[in-house]
Amino acid sequence: MKLNPVLDKLAAYKAGPPLAEVARRYQLARVAQLSANESPWGPFPEVVEAMHAALEGLNRYPDGGCDRLRGLLADRLRVPAGHLVFGNGSCELLMLLGEALLGPETHAVFPHPSFVMYRSIAVMRGAPYTSVPLPGLDYDLEAVAAAIGERTSLVIICNPNNPTGSYLEPDALRNFLERVPADVVVAFDEAYGEFVSSSRRAETARWVSEYPNLVVLRTFSKIYGLAGLRVGYAVADPKLVEALDKIRQPFNVDSLAQVAAARCLELPERVEERRRLVAEERARLGAALDRLGIAYHPSEANFLLVDVTNLGVPGPEAAQALLERGVLTRSGYAMGCPGWIRVTIGTVEENDLFLGAIAELKELGPTAVRTHPVKDLTADVLSPES
Ligand SMILES: Cc1ncc(COP(=O)(O)O)c(C=O)c1O
Repeated sequence: MKLNPVLDKLAAYKAGPPLAEVARRYQLARVAQLSANESPWGPFPEVVEAMHAALEGLNRYPDGGCDRLRGLLADRLRVPAGHLVFGNGSCELLMLLGEALLGPETHAVFPHPSFVMYRSIAVMRGAPYTSVPLPGLDYDLEAVAAAIGERTSLVIICNPNNPTGSYLEPDALRNFLERVPADVVVAFDEAYGEFVSSSRRAETARWVSEYPNLVVLRTFSKIYGLAGLRVGYAVADPKLVEALDKIRQPFNVDSLAQVAAARCLELPERVEERRRLVAEERARLGAALDRLGIAYHPSEANFLLVDVTNLGVPGPEAAQALLERGVLTRSGYAMGCPGWIRVTIGTVEENDLFLGAIAELKELGPTAVRTHPVKDLTADVLSPES
């Protein structure tokens, strides 16, 4: 097989271990899945109802232009309908951006540590890239701007950043956009944008009219609880929308996803309630970690990056030790931030399970004896690229 040689530089994405397997192996009554930044709650009941009603029409292909969803979203965001393009999750839109903008003659800039896909889309296209470190886990936009060169065609800002939770205020973003050459596309990946408190947010989707090189990426996977359906969108200048439309699959967003996403947009009060619940739980977790003397990085997202260098187990073993106590988290050692784990904000019960487990690890002495044979199930999650 004459496979593309860039594939040697990539590793397939490995999802975490199945919860049933974790429960069986460690004889656990409950396992809290706090590793993928999903919503702990399912889709809103009205959304489930709308999907039920749409099931009978599945013999037909979906609406390739997502017209109804497009109209509703354009109204809600107050942007022209022609500024929108939809994707099979925002991951697909990132891949399409890579295809449209990157190649061996170009250059990409993105933060580090951040979402694994940014590096992947550059590598897939054979594009050189600069991953700009976040000193103290926060953005240094000076350094991001300095990394932009003659050949740079794409800059990605993940805001709030995954996995650090770091958030850039609207003023800082505007100042940054002013400094970027007009032919360099800047993608704001706002997968977690809806979790940011309203007082600290701006509707960046509307900035696209002012900055045609800006593209804003959003997803229905997080606050709306539709990760299993795969639907996201980009707000961009019509020229970029046209480019992405040319290379996407004709029917890239399935019918149920379109129906569900459209119904979500009619339920802003429910979204607000989720934002409030997540913020309350994030604050409660933070306060409890403070009491335990465990550090964490301030976050505006639905996850916290928690310091594991001060526990009764070595930092690299913390995710596994939590797993053995029924809490699946994501180890920072695999995500470019050693010394930390990322824990998704779950339900009150799930967060309590996490707090109980990490408190237990904090209290363990260095001579702690393991109760289970060591088979690091988190190793599946710990590919060096994740
Ligand atoms: C920063 C960031 N962007 C994009 C995505 C992809 O989301 P989607 O489910 O819309 O493909 C994720 C998923 O975790 C993410 O963390």
